[in-house]
Amino acid sequence: MNEDRSKLLAQRWDDRAEGYDRYFVPRFAPWVATTTTTLLAHPLPPGPILVPCCGTFPELPAIAAAHPESEIVGIDISQGMLARARRRTTAHPRTRLLHGDALDIYSRWPGTAAAVISVFGLQQLPDPPTALAGWVSALRPGGVLSVTCWPDEPENDGPFALLDAVVNEVIPQTADDADWHLRLSDAVTSAGAEVEHDVPVAHPIIHPNAEAFWMAMTEGGRLRNLGMSHGETFVAQLRNRFLDRAPAGPWQHQPTARLIVARMPLGVSG
Ligand SMILES: C[S@@+](CC[C@H](N)C(=O)[O-])C[C@H]1O[C@@H](n2cnc3c(N)ncnc32)[C@H](O)[C@@H]1O
Repeated sequence: MNEDRSKLLAQRWDDRAEGYDRYFVPRFAPWVATTTTTLLAHPLPPGPILVPCCGTFPELPAIAAAHPESEIVGIDISQGMLARARRRTTAHPRTRLLHGDALDIYSRWPGTAAAVISVFGLQQLPDPPTALAGWVSALRPGGVLSVTCWPDEPENDGPFALLDAVVNEVIPQTADDADWHLRLSDAVTSAGAEVEHDVPVAHPIIHPNAEAFWMAMTEGGRLRNLGMSHGETFVAQLRNRFLDRAPAGPWQHQPTARLIVARMPLGVSG
């Protein structure tokens, strides 16, 4: 990734780290559990377990419990997220954190990793199919990939959908590569692995109310960046539009992510 883009992205996540960890990490925990559970079912070859886009590293406890002897490496571009991840790694001496780009995984671990696990990082990368192929190529024969990402539209109804609608009305999205999600499975097989599961994964999330969701998005979500780029008045106007159309009281929804689990066949390296 070019250096300016990489710095900007890192800074955005530094700013959001506290809010994301406090509000979203507990609500996204069921997807972390679904993604890491796949590791319990698989014996792994030797080598490190890599966790690109680890953020504050909620994946760590389940991975360490399933594979206590393995080296586990969390990789993230944001020092702010890694500072919070450090609170989790102290309990796991075989774990280390690396400040770096998730796109560099293959060049650091070519065909040498036991597993690559990642939750909600892939969809943010500039070219997700190419990034995913790189992650597969880091696997040793017998190595396992377990990756969960958000599709462009995780729900038709609910706070994520309403937020998208309200934002898109005033900032029309440019369709950079609207079809990237159609190419993920091919990217995995082209890199040499066999897809074992490619499934939608929906879990319920509850927000105390629309206002609390909005606040969380301004502190730990994408609205924080919007405030910086478009100003607080603009965000206040968006907030009114959002709250006018949101239901009153606690708000439950069930967004759908995508889980891809694949294995590098024995006798093949990426
Ligand atoms: C939505 S958070 C998910 C974090 C964690 N996996 C979780 O489930 O809570 C996405 C993370 O990806 C990181 N990230 C985004 N682009 C990255 C890149 N190119 N290389 C490494 N990390 C990146 C961000 O800094 C952020 O911590």
